[in-house]
Amino acid sequence: MSRLLYYCCVFGALLYTTECKQYRYDYSYDCEVNGWFKLHRIPATWHDAWLRCQLEGAVLASPENIYMNLAIRNVMKNKQAPWSGVHTGIHATFSKGDFFSVEGVPLSRMQVDWMPAEPDNKDNDEDCILMAANGTIADINCNQVHPYICFRKKTKNMVLNGCGTFDQEYNLDPRTGSCYKFHRVPRNWTRAYMTCAAEGGHLAVVNSETEANVLRELFEKTPANSIISAIPGIMRDIMHVGFHDWSERGVWTTIHGMSLIETGFNLWAEGQPDNAPPGEYCGGMFRNGRLDDVWCHERGTFVCEKTPHSLMQEEDL
Ligand SMILES: *[C@@H]1O[C@H](CO)[C@@H](O)[C@H](O)[C@H]1NC(C)=O
Ligand SMILES: *[C@@H]1O[C@H](CO)[C@@H](O)[C@H](O)[C@H]1NC(C)=O
Repeated sequence: MSRLLYYCCVFGALLYTTECKQYRYDYSYDCEVNGWFKLHRIPATWHDAWLRCQLEGAVLASPENIYMNLAIRNVMKNKQAPWSGVHTGIHATFSKGDFFSVEGVPLSRMQVDWMPAEPDNKDNDEDCILMAANGTIADINCNQVHPYICFRKKTKNMVLNGCGTFDQEYNLDPRTGSCYKFHRVPRNWTRAYMTCAAEGGHLAVVNSETEANVLRELFEKTPANSIISAIPGIMRDIMHVGFHDWSERGVWTTIHGMSLIETGFNLWAEGQPDNAPPGEYCGGMFRNGRLDDVWCHERGTFVCEKTPHSLMQEEDL
């Protein structure tokens, strides 16, 4: 690092600690690129990696310029794993051979070296770009699973709200002390679970009649005809919530491991659970606030719940 850059960085870090808020506990700040990084060690396909970064409010990191290139390599180096490489945000999944970062920078603009014998577009099926710890890249099949790094650029308009997140769709409800976000884009139960986890929360767990009312009111604000309709097989009058049968057919347990009675709300809609064929194993709620068993694969709206401190640094708790 040049001396000037070093001083910039130290000065920046001082400013940062006094002025800037941490993005979230699982992201670390890099002053040279003025943004935050998170390494995901658990290998995923390119699409899943892209989605998880997106849901975390970030993007799948790409070596768009020499600073980002170095920063990504530093993340890999500092974490000292035998890295064969990480997925980058560079892809040609929209149009074969047209490689761009997810932020739209063409690969031809980036200063990167290919690994020996790459790119080879093996079997005409390699539309994603892997980056090794030494900074070289290769084209790979997007379905290969690799670790990946998410990046969030620091921008001026970032405001940390009372729910401890930059996501302004989370609102604190004083009746329960929890924060809620209604997701109007329908997803299946497992994707809904993933979405809430990425946002630092969890699928809503109904602990009381009061909380059932909070969810009912949120659902009310989203009429059935406003829910995206182009997707076949979506539910408009039932949303996903945080309980499941955990493969114990007919025994319902929350995602926090409690029975519905223990957790404080056990009111099913009339005639439910009915285990409609071929079997309903996931938790749902009707517009009237009563529970239902639903098909896990069916897409529905859902509510994520989080505590205001769920994304805070350890020392701030
Ligand atoms: C960089 O790493 C790749 C993948 O591990 C390897 O194939 C390549 O030879 C390395 N290049 C250099 C210059 O060390
Ligand atoms: C939910 O959707 C994802 C992505 O389409 C899929 O991989 C997963 O298997 C689905 N889950 C269920 C329970 O159908």
